[in-house]
Amino acid sequence: MTTYEAFYRQSVDQPDAFWAEQAKLIDWQTPPTRMCDNDHPPFTRWFGGGRTNLCHNAVDRHLKDRGQQPALIHVSTETGAEETYTFAQLHEQVQLAAAMLRGLGVGKGDRVLIYMPMIPQAVFAMLACARIGAIHSVVFGGFASVSLASRIEDAAPRLIVSADAGSRGGKVVAYKPLLDEAIYLSAHKPEAVLMVDRRMAPLDPAPGRDWDWDALALRHQGEVVPCEWLDSNDISYTMYTSGTTGQPKGVQRDVGGYAVALAASMKHIMQGEAGGTYFCTSDIGWVVGHSYIVYGPLIAGMATILYEGLPIRPDAGVWWSLVEKFKVSAMFSAPTAVRVLKKHDQALMKKYDLSSLKALYLAGEPLDAPTARWISDALGVPIIDNYWQTETGWPILTIANGVERKASKFGSPGVPMYGWKVKIVHETTGQELTEPNQKGVVMIDLPTPPGFMQTIWRDDARFVKTYWESIPGKTAYSTFDWGIRDADGYYYILGRTDDVINVAGHRLGTREIEESISSHAGVAEVAVVGVADTLKGQVAMAFVVPRHAADVADDAGQFKLEGEIMKAVDSQLGAVARPSRVRFVTALPKTRSGKLLRRAIQAVCEGRDPGDLTTIEDPTALQQIKELLAG
Ligand code: PRX
Repeated sequence: MTTYEAFYRQSVDQPDAFWAEQAKLIDWQTPPTRMCDNDHPPFTRWFGGGRTNLCHNAVDRHLKDRGQQPALIHVSTETGAEETYTFAQLHEQVQLAAAMLRGLGVGKGDRVLIYMPMIPQAVFAMLACARIGAIHSVVFGGFASVSLASRIEDAAPRLIVSADAGSRGGKVVAYKPLLDEAIYLSAHKPEAVLMVDRRMAPLDPAPGRDWDWDALALRHQGEVVPCEWLDSNDISYTMYTSGTTGQPKGVQRDVGGYAVALAASMKHIMQGEAGGTYFCTSDIGWVVGHSYIVYGPLIAGMATILYEGLPIRPDAGVWWSLVEKFKVSAMFSAPTAVRVLKKHDQALMKKYDLSSLKALYLAGEPLDAPTARWISDALGVPIIDNYWQTETGWPILTIANGVERKASKFGSPGVPMYGWKVKIVHETTGQELTEPNQKGVVMIDLPTPPGFMQTIWRDDARFVKTYWESIPGKTAYSTFDWGIRDADGYYYILGRTDDVINVAGHRLGTREIEESISSHAGVAEVAVVGVADTLKGQVAMAFVVPRHAADVADDAGQFKLEGEIMKAVDSQLGAVARPSRVRFVTALPKTRSGKLLRRAIQAVCEGRDPGDLTTIEDPTALQQIKELLAG
């Protein structure tokens, strides 16, 4: 067996040879003639000349050997639904969805925005897009009208696929009013809206625009829609993610590079074996859901579980009952979920037969050692922390047990994965920090491996400026995460360098939350910061300067305005973005040039030293926050 070290070295020293080998893990209609094309940095392209299709690799190619084996297992503890689709049935459903999309005028390169709960039709719609070469843009169902509107406007979809409602913890969330409001707010209007009716909330269809999934399906029954062979560098999807500005970025991904990256990661990292069952508890609205609920496991020929519900309903044993029932071989979740489970009796998981499970993968936020230890003791299988981003598509740092078994170190996601030239860099000089345990920014050198984002949708300049020019004079990709590397080469991630926060594994931009809060007429100024939280990792905390001091003169006034602000965030961005608290102040700490000192506010909130305050305009503003929190 190769050592991981040799494997890694080949990936960065001879990327062409390395990835030519990995490219064999998928089916190509026309094999690629050129592996890595780095002629136009920082735009690395992969597998030029190759033609393939993600849907073919996820579905059609498995029909021969495993057509009758389970492919998609849907479980909803919200509605009680439980259905299994074999690869043959999935193929049928995806063709039907593709026929409907085509019938509604969707073709290659058209965008389809998918705003859906965790139901099978969401997966059919994604795969149908991949099948015909349409570009999907899935928006997390927890987002509300304003978030959705900005994504509709940017993606300019021809079609939106949605459903009447989602459900969380038994509470029905009607999607249609949010969607209608979002379409109203967006300058771009879709030609058609395809609605799945779960009969959970009123639909109120717009005549001539809205279509019913089941009714339309009847018209297209039995239609054959072959996979469109796409260039490796065609676009498979865009997915919006938060950054430093209020305007989310459409992370754009290719076809061939993504397919190869996922096939390789399923083999080398995720211990994916064809015929096994993969259970990723994320949501299709996030990158983890794209890579490890939908495409990764299916490309690997595994059954994938699509789960709608909480980890603790009906009780904290529910996930483990699924592990037993469907003989789950690998599971993927987020540290937050484990911290939630940790509050419940371990006996609830121990009563199930978990012998099929080989590993648990955790990502999305730092995995603290006590949480890692607790779940490791409970499961007795390797707990594999993995660090990556929407932008990267698959893990940058973790342990590749499929190549060589390596011990994890609690608190560290691991070592650089093959293909990623990871380094720690000084924040301002850009100098690489080569000594162990020096804190700097985690950065990546060119060429970027397959699966990494192609660009920001319709904004190459923003892609270059945002990610590649953060340090003047040096071209390197910034993850915007702080990190250190220890003497053994293991990395530790120490939080974001920018205004992105991570609430229960959900990536949110503090600027977006601030913009939403500012829309309230009673708000003059606002600062939102992420504050450490034992359960959710971080929570958003808002500091507001009211327009009229009299509004918050007493407890009742403060309570009222806080409630209204939270409601505004709920209805515009969604409850995921709601701050845990809104506190009222008379001024916000800023630099003399007027820049908000978010890091100083955050430090004070977490009881840390706010650091260098030489540029602060008015030190009493920070003092006021300190006193408020102490009180
Ligand atoms: O700050 C890092 C954190 O989540 C960010 C990326 O979030 P997102 O784009 O939603 O992609 C999640 C894909 C897993 C990173 O910049 N993050 C992600 N994984 C870890 C992490 N922080 C620490 N440890 C991790 N394993």
